[in-house]
Amino acid sequence: MKKSLSVLLILATLVLFTACAATSAASEKSGGSASGVSGVSASADAGESGESGAQAAKSVVVYFSRTNNTEKIAEFIVELTDSDEYEIQAKVPYTDADINYNDSNSRTSREQNDPAARPELGGEALDLSGYGVIYLGYPIWWGQAPKILYTFVETYDLSGKTVIPFCTSASSGIGTSATNLAKSAPSAQFKVGKRFSASADKSEVEAWLKTVALSGVNDENNSGSTQGGKENAMQLTMKLDGTKVSVAWEDNESVTALKELVKTSPITINASAYGGFEQVGPIGASLPRNDVQTTTSSGDIVLYSGNQMVLFYGSNSWAYTRLGKITGLSGAEIKSLLNKSGVTITLSLE
Ligand SMILES: Cc1cc2nc3c(=O)[nH]c(=O)nc-3n(C[C@H](O)[C@H](O)[C@H](O)COP(=O)(O)O)c2cc1C
Repeated sequence: MKKSLSVLLILATLVLFTACAATSAASEKSGGSASGVSGVSASADAGESGESGAQAAKSVVVYFSRTNNTEKIAEFIVELTDSDEYEIQAKVPYTDADINYNDSNSRTSREQNDPAARPELGGEALDLSGYGVIYLGYPIWWGQAPKILYTFVETYDLSGKTVIPFCTSASSGIGTSATNLAKSAPSAQFKVGKRFSASADKSEVEAWLKTVALSGVNDENNSGSTQGGKENAMQLTMKLDGTKVSVAWEDNESVTALKELVKTSPITINASAYGGFEQVGPIGASLPRNDVQTTTSSGDIVLYSGNQMVLFYGSNSWAYTRLGKITGLSGAEIKSLLNKSGVTITLSLE
């Protein structure tokens, strides 16, 4: 009797082991797609997002794109991950005049400066019920996601969904654009986002998708890098006479070097007024420079002569390297912070 029980036990263990091995092989396979990019598959993420069941939920690429740069990246993701596609449309489409960022009274300037702006959605509604993973794409407008993205994440129920943000920009990094969106959709699981240039090709997108599954969730402490390293995730923070201001930093080697400089200890720049339009002061070190002829506007932060930081509350034309732009403040607010004989600029990594 004892012997036959042991045989039964061994047999049961063998059956269990074989079943487990088969299951794990199946889930490994389901993590991939036809093209071989693993990325995040809905099934691979189901555990994290709290979903259950063996049925893999599909992924969808949801994007807003006014001049088609983000659309191009969205289409690469669709192809590489075999996702569905949905374009966010505004009920009142954005005209060329609406997106004129040189006009402080254009529709986008007004919307991006208005915390309450929620432009109405147009087009057909999206049924999200079958999707576990949403790749969410947008252009950077004034360092942030367009306000219609907020309308989207607040209109749809994203609870339990994994959201993977991506964006395109002229030069700004993804900055706080995705973390701010995540705050408006607290029930979704936001992954670390990625910024692409308009000229990014399919292989760049493919390389990123391979890192997505490894990257963490976007939160206050982890907003910038797809690598998810703690240092990369730290934000370069600026204070003007002790007042913290929000900055959309450029994604370039000068800003990387600046971050490196303040990594060990914060730096203080004693800037003085010049020309009735700027504050300029020595950084105390030389940064890599790629000067181009630039006409600056209020809020611009640039590198001058490789070793000086300039903050504008007016405009000037000169050869500079862009470092970033103060966001979330009106021209008048920026002027009240900068239009004085001198300003103490403090930079730290937080
Ligand atoms: C209103 C507006 C504001 C913009 N602000 C920024 C910015 O702060 N930083 C940046 O690098 N690019 C900025 N851009 C450029 C766009 O982010 C960039 O061209 C993007 O790729 C456009 O994407 P789309 O073609 O999908 O609309 C801005 C463009 C517009 C129209």
